[in-house]
Amino acid sequence: MYVCVCNAVTDREIRDAVKRGVRTLGDLSATLGVATCCGRCTDCAQQVLAEAVGADACCAGGDD
Ligand code: FES
Repeated sequence: MYVCVCNAVTDREIRDAVKRGVRTLGDLSATLGVATCCGRCTDCAQQVLAEAVGADACCAGGDD
């Protein structure tokens, strides 16, 4: 599904970005442009990001 309509960014793209090391909404904005236009996607993007970071940390054994 589209999370950021303005920049045509999907939840899948956010999960892929997390696998490449993205951890914050700022990182996401810098790499994919999420929440850089109208900002309506901020809450949803943050939620998808948090879920993806949690899943990534679990599979990777955590950050250190
Ligand atoms: S929907 Fe993401 S900036 Fe507008």
